[in-house]
Amino acid sequence: MTTATTTSRQTSTDPLALIDVDHVRFYVGNAKQAAYFYAHTFGFHISQVADLTTGSRDEADYLLTQGNIRLMLTTPLDSDHPAAEEIKLYGDGVKDIAFTVFDAESAYDLAIKNGGVSAAEPRTLTDERGSVTVASIKTYGRVVHSFVSRTGAYALPDIKNGAEFMPVFKKMTSPVNDYYAANPCGLKYIDHCVGNVEEGKMNHWVQWYEDVMGFKMFKHFDDADISTEYSALMSKVMASGNNLIKMPINEPAEGKKKSQIQEYLEWHNMTPGCQHLAMRTDDELGSVAELRRRGVDFLNLPDSYYEQVWDRVNKTLVAHGHEPVKEDHEKIKDLGVLVDADDEGYLLQLFTKPLQDRPTLFFEIISRHGSQSFGKGNFKALFEALEIEQDRRGNL
Ligand code: FE2
Repeated sequence: MTTATTTSRQTSTDPLALIDVDHVRFYVGNAKQAAYFYAHTFGFHISQVADLTTGSRDEADYLLTQGNIRLMLTTPLDSDHPAAEEIKLYGDGVKDIAFTVFDAESAYDLAIKNGGVSAAEPRTLTDERGSVTVASIKTYGRVVHSFVSRTGAYALPDIKNGAEFMPVFKKMTSPVNDYYAANPCGLKYIDHCVGNVEEGKMNHWVQWYEDVMGFKMFKHFDDADISTEYSALMSKVMASGNNLIKMPINEPAEGKKKSQIQEYLEWHNMTPGCQHLAMRTDDELGSVAELRRRGVDFLNLPDSYYEQVWDRVNKTLVAHGHEPVKEDHEKIKDLGVLVDADDEGYLLQLFTKPLQDRPTLFFEIISRHGSQSFGKGNFKALFEALEIEQDRRGNL
């Protein structure tokens, strides 16, 4: 592995310096209904809409917000819209992981110069309030990265305070938003975003993120031992220069049973895509308790998990001079939360079952207490849990 980039990517002189995850766009079969699913189960606020009533003639878009997370649910209004074909091929899922940059056109130009392939040339939407410029490049499979730059009332700090997302959007008022405000789920931002690619293509996409986006390999505790007989996947983590976003890339590997990555690909028209989005919370137990109360369907772990986990995790923490896990161990078990530790500390995490009928996209709820890795120590327990689910779906 060569490291292509040695320069700092944190200044505005670098066109590919990423300011934030602008939004994550899903293509869905029915955005109006999906908005209520994500709002009710995960506590998102249905903030804004662009549809026929606001002058959007070919698609409807719902902006869902929580903390610094912005999900855009897009549904096509006619069969010629590209989303219509994608929904036919892949079902609902992630289309675009979009980044806010200082100048979308410069970011796009540099990414193309670096070897990226265009998905959409720069276009600017302007009205009397300001402007939004968007340009997109293709990444793995059906996913694109858009670069978004904003001026005037559409600047990112204003968006975070609830300003209109871009021209044609209007604010929504809904009783579900009042419920959200009274019963917060505590999700703050997107911690990482995982892609599943074809067998043998992981290193290709690792190189692509280095060359085209200026990302670097993220060094973490899991590196030395990423593949086990249980994992049936290979994974490398790429990170933007400022570690704003981490993008693990998985490929299927030989295991005892069919790889979960292979299952994803088979139900995704053999096309790479986003496997999961991990949402960060400061209070894992509070968030998971509220999400469970709302009916989120989480993966169930084998009972034996909690017979071994404290020994493993607290031993690792003590060996590296850290305090043991401070959260109530019984409560962690009651909520079915997973725990892992490394040289820097520990993390708590939990994975949902697939969010749609196809076994493709799911969410992870994660909190970090020093640890910057991804829960490698949970792979064995997780794969056993996943195999039970795969078996139930007849896909093992
Ligand atoms: Fe994850």
